[in-house]
Amino acid sequence: MNDLAGKHIVLGLTGGIACYKAAELCRALVKEGATVQVVMTEAAGQFITPVTMQALSNRPVYHSQWDPRETNNMAHINLSREADAILIAPASADFMAKLLHGRADDLLSLMCLARPIDQVPLLVAPAMNREMWANPATQRNVAQLQADGAHVFAVGSGDQACGETGDGRMLEPQELLEEVIVFFARKSLRGQRVLVTAGPTYEAIDPVRGITNLSSGKMGFAIARAAREAGADVTLVAGPVHLPTPRGVRRLDVRSARDMQQAVDAEVMNATVFVATAAVADWRPANAAEQKIKKDGSGQAPALTFVENPDILAGVAQGARAKSGALYCVGFAAESHDLLANAQAKLARKGVPLLVGNIGPATFGQDDNALLLVDAQGTTELPRASKIDLARQLVAEIARRLGKKT
Ligand code: CTP
Repeated sequence: MNDLAGKHIVLGLTGGIACYKAAELCRALVKEGATVQVVMTEAAGQFITPVTMQALSNRPVYHSQWDPRETNNMAHINLSREADAILIAPASADFMAKLLHGRADDLLSLMCLARPIDQVPLLVAPAMNREMWANPATQRNVAQLQADGAHVFAVGSGDQACGETGDGRMLEPQELLEEVIVFFARKSLRGQRVLVTAGPTYEAIDPVRGITNLSSGKMGFAIARAAREAGADVTLVAGPVHLPTPRGVRRLDVRSARDMQQAVDAEVMNATVFVATAAVADWRPANAAEQKIKKDGSGQAPALTFVENPDILAGVAQGARAKSGALYCVGFAAESHDLLANAQAKLARKGVPLLVGNIGPATFGQDDNALLLVDAQGTTELPRASKIDLARQLVAEIARRLGKKT
């Protein structure tokens, strides 16, 4: 993945212990395809050396406004003019106060002030002690920075270098990377509220056994992430999977098909888009035993009887049609063969405007997939790619169809 290919980011470090995370962040940005120009304040130099940052960014680091390397001696102008964004990470309380007042007594603050405000966004990742973060002065500064057009990231919570515990830590490098990718993403679903189901369901036979399937939930989680990147408000109803929640996504964990149906029913009235990727068990044991079923010595397996689970997607789609299309429903079809014919049949059977077919055994648990989109207009193939790439393409396809609808 090269989610930041072609982006040039000026990474500004100010004085704070979180400078050690900036090294990892720099590396992550470069790995994602960005070019990174590091600028450090004098205080940042107390926490990490320019040598480290130069090695990671593969460019000499700037720290002085009097740097003679620039022929016109205007590093603050030259560096900001070529940037797609200036990212201050870590941003100390003092530096934020400085930005707010338009002070410019070092290269980094001078560069922020001199940037073309409409073309070079300023991204700020605060990092400080919890008392400093909670101080009304800091909170006032954050609000004013946002009002002035800066994009201030959230802070993390937990143990702090000072030994205290609370809010104010800088986000972790991977979290910041995700936020930067989100920042640059096209907001094709802005204003939409997307509900996604993902993963398998688990149907209990007794307290220690059950039936489930091989769905890993990765495709659904990728779609939740891509929808959030595209500006949607996203709720993810997840069956039992071991996947981290995509940043900015609200997650509800469920176990059985009926739990999933209950969660979906409670959420769907707020949604404008419903994407059902979950591999819902079609049947569940008619009566789950309250105690573990023991072998009785007869050599006979217990006779299990099954009843059909509710079809969550079909039910939601039916409700959506009744409300004349205020909710756009997308179904998935996990097939083992005859993908096109089965997907077309499922499109009609589920009564949804868009059905996404994939070959279940070839994708369950994998990091990549290939999709076949089927709707009334015909078919669109999304060739094999990583699940996040496919999720982004699918989100774009959904946004295009929503655009046509309105
Ligand atoms: N689905 C659902 N509730 C169910 C079964 C399926 O919401 N009880 C949804 C899935 O999330 C998916 C679509 O319906 O979006 C199709 O799921 P799939 O398992 O491929 O199809 P089934 O309806 O179960 O049909 P079959 O197993 O016969 O292929």
